[in-house]
Amino acid sequence: MRVSTDPEPQKGAVAAAPRITVSGASKRYGGLQVFRDVNLRVGHREILALVGPSGCGKTTLLRCLDGLIPMSEGEVRVDGQPVTGPLPKAAMVFQHFGLFPWKTVFGNVAYGLRLAGASKAVIQERVPYFIQLVGLSGFEDAYPYQLSGGMQQRCGLARALAVEPDVLLMDEPFAAVDAQTREILQFELLRIWRMRPTSMVFVTHSIDEAVLMGDRVVVLKGRPSTVSEIVEVTLPHPRTRETLATTRFAELREHVWTTLMDEARRAEFQLEA
Ligand SMILES: Nc1ncnc2c1ncn2[C@@H]1O[C@H](COP(=O)(O)OP(=O)(O)OP(=O)(O)O)[C@@H](O)[C@H]1O
Ligand SMILES: [Mg+2]
Repeated sequence: MRVSTDPEPQKGAVAAAPRITVSGASKRYGGLQVFRDVNLRVGHREILALVGPSGCGKTTLLRCLDGLIPMSEGEVRVDGQPVTGPLPKAAMVFQHFGLFPWKTVFGNVAYGLRLAGASKAVIQERVPYFIQLVGLSGFEDAYPYQLSGGMQQRCGLARALAVEPDVLLMDEPFAAVDAQTREILQFELLRIWRMRPTSMVFVTHSIDEAVLMGDRVVVLKGRPSTVSEIVEVTLPHPRTRETLATTRFAELREHVWTTLMDEARRAEFQLEA
């Protein structure tokens, strides 16, 4: 098993130069130091899964990558350029759907394209394509309240994919849907990603999901959190339901689990002390 804190992506998984480079990143909110000295590289065609205890700063880190909030120290570069504000080439899928309740499925999916100045003709062509890609055809005119949780999440996914981003930031995208829907969406996302691979940072609380989706799994730990380990996921693509039954998958899951549980046990010990 290849385990390190070396931020470099492995050669097999990615093109030579990384798309995203995070160097010496730290973030404070007032007196609260959330993370420090985070160094990461994400390749052009790489899925980097990010796991860590609740409150360790996963969402905060994604927002820094997207340029939505500034870091306290360090820098993020995308394609060599420092990120200083909201990144036009990036799209985010949020922890809790993040749809506009007053817009239909069509309107939600079209939103990013409209913002990017796409013409009416482009919107009319692309939006139905992405709605169909995530399995929501027939629901173009439905409002979010008329959709199930899984359908809302598909809509959020279509909205992010429609702008054909170079960087896809996923914040626990499947956390709010039931287990069956979650599994379906995981494999659908992998299928869609194979059609158009991008740099993806995928935050999750599920170790199984991290190992299934990621080319590498980054484990954030501690207070303030730092990168504790980067585990290379040596599982072949395409990943399928059969992947979940392999010995290799079980070994990798066990390894990430043990790394995270060390932290939980230490926290418990501190509570008892
Ligand atoms: N805007 C903010 N102002 C002040 N503190 C914040 C702000 N946003 C987040 N925090 C704090 O920063 C820490 C990290 O929060 P963040 O949401 O990034 O964690 P997380 O790892 O995504 O957690 P979860 O797994 O529960 O989603 C928490 O202690 C949180 O209270
Ligand atoms: Mg979060």
